Amino acid sequence: MNYTSSIYNCLDSEQKSYIESLKEILEKKMPADLFAHSCGTMDFSARLADRYYDLLRQEVCAESKVRKDFTSHSLRMRFYKLLVAGMLHDYAKIYDDGTLAAIAKQHGTALSDFEISCRPIIHGYIGPFLIQRDFGIYDSDIENSIRSHTTGSLRMGVADRILYIADKLEPTRDYRGVRKLRKLSMKSLDLCLLEVYKSNIIYVIMRNHALHPDTSKIWNYICGGLKNAI
Ligand SMILES: [Fe+2]
Repeated sequence: MNYTSSIYNCLDSEQKSYIESLKEILEKKMPADLFAHSCGTMDFSARLADRYYDLLRQEVCAESKVRKDFTSHSLRMRFYKLLVAGMLHDYAKIYDDGTLAAIAKQHGTALSDFEISCRPIIHGYIGPFLIQRDFGIYDSDIENSIRSHTTGSLRMGVADRILYIADKLEPTRDYRGVRKLRKLSMKSLDLCLLEVYKSNIIYVIMRNHALHPDTSKIWNYICGGLKNAI
């Protein structure tokens, strides 16, 4: 990891070595730019997790309260899963779109015609299936974060928000306004999510591409979340 993360330092040796082995595997499977983006997304996720440690802790505590099983282990696991999701979120991009569409049909993944035909987003929907198949990872937290990193979703927890933002702001990303958004990401997670989501909508519209049919609902959800956060 390039960024010195206190979260990363909290992981146990088994978790750290799994992440290192994942990096070695992905380096062989991915083109160099995609691998750099994946490492950058994991690093930026760690940076945000350090910054928003309290939010993540509160969420894990609240979930564990329902199950009455909160331990420091549950919090460490949540960080670990976030880093794994950061490394694997674009794993499906090693396949071309035709292959991803065929996988979706073959395995009955419930996708709309729009999702199957939309090049920039299909990898997010097929990713969870591929990480089950190729890495034996069956974990709903990791799957939810990967599934929602392209279009967002109506139920984004703190880790999902972190991954969504890290994917768009990690150090290899270079577009107008990205530096401003990076600064904002250290001030407010919810405001940053709102601005990053907005910039994504503008990006799609400016290229005359179609928006995912759920975009307006997700935008409204993010605005609502912001009201509660202020
Ligand atoms: Fe990505």
